[in-house]
Amino acid sequence: HGPIRVALLGCGTVGTEVVRLLTEQADDLTARVGAPIELAGIAVRKPNKHREVPADLLTTDAEALVASDVDVVIEVIGGIEPTRTLLRKALEGGKSVVTANKALLAEHSAELFEAADASGADLYFEAAVAGAIPLLRPLRESLAGDRITRVMGIVNGTTNFILSGMTSTGSSYAETLEEATRLGYAEADPTADVDGYDAASKAAILASLAFHSRVTASDVHREGIASVSAADIAAAKGLGRVVKLLAICERVEVDGTESIAVRVHPAMIPVAHPLASVNGAFNAVFVEADAAGEMMFYGQGAGGAPTASAVLGDLVAAARNRVGGGHGPRESAYAALPVRPMGQT
Ligand code: NAP
Ligand code: HSE
Repeated sequence: HGPIRVALLGCGTVGTEVVRLLTEQADDLTARVGAPIELAGIAVRKPNKHREVPADLLTTDAEALVASDVDVVIEVIGGIEPTRTLLRKALEGGKSVVTANKALLAEHSAELFEAADASGADLYFEAAVAGAIPLLRPLRESLAGDRITRVMGIVNGTTNFILSGMTSTGSSYAETLEEATRLGYAEADPTADVDGYDAASKAAILASLAFHSRVTASDVHREGIASVSAADIAAAKGLGRVVKLLAICERVEVDGTESIAVRVHPAMIPVAHPLASVNGAFNAVFVEADAAGEMMFYGQGAGGAPTASAVLGDLVAAARNRVGGGHGPRESAYAALPVRPMGQT
């Protein structure tokens, strides 16, 4: 098989690590895929600041790169536009897409899934939720024969890093947020993390996949950690508890009618609970299913290298499909379960 040509959109915290892994593991990836993976171009805003990647690959014209002769488009720019338009065009043109963009997927997954299904392209997004942790593939594939009833856990590394720092070392909110930004955990606008928008986007994606339905970020009841004070954390400690930002997605049945309830809010957890010892930028997610029972997924939830690991896994899956003629899971068949409005959970 000829080379699998890849367009990389964005070369920041995550994109830089994607280039590093692609370069360092080129031979292994070729063996795993059955064809060489060739980086065709890298779209950025300011090429001059990217001395770490080959200059001849850089472009500021993401649209032309997507329209060029590539098989897979990796998007690690973030935000709604221009990514929505770029990824739609890629999928409509039959190019498979790998993205880490939870904000986009939580609002516009329906149109992206439809574009992918119509052209036969793949849409993979493991890196969009819980960084390196393999979680979406289990929900989309391994557990597709079971009935998931609940998904619950810590899905934002930045806020967990802040809350852990405030709990263990008594560091201030501002100090720990600055450190999370320096370490590449926080979003370009960190209010997305601290106000719970990032966790709400991830919760919407988790609920959509777990319950084979359509949940958007605006369906999610959301509270962030901005109002959690050092005094709240000390009070929790006095009660043998720690404060964590939780995302909870549940099937609920009221008067015989099934619906979905999704919420994100800080909660006081007993120190003996497994989630209480999830610290720093780690994430952990419990999944409950009728036949499988309870499962826990744990690992690094943010940062360039862990996120790039998930991106590369998706790239290998998309590339293998190109080589072998298969395709990833289709999402156009779904159960239209109602989402319970805020305050009724
Ligand atoms: P980042 O460091 O801010 O990098 C963004 C990159 O996109 C930069 O290279 C930037 O170019 C480029 N870019 C921005 N607008 C562009 C445009 N219009 N055309 C071409 N390139 C453009 O962001 P990041 O932390 O890598 O995050 C990227 C995505 O991954 C986001 O969706 C984020 O939510 C997601 N994600 C991040 C993490 C994490 O831990 N950081 C984890 C999971 C998922 P310049 O460098 O030239 O400015
Ligand atoms: N800003 C996100 C977080 C990145 O802190 O969890 C990983 O999605």
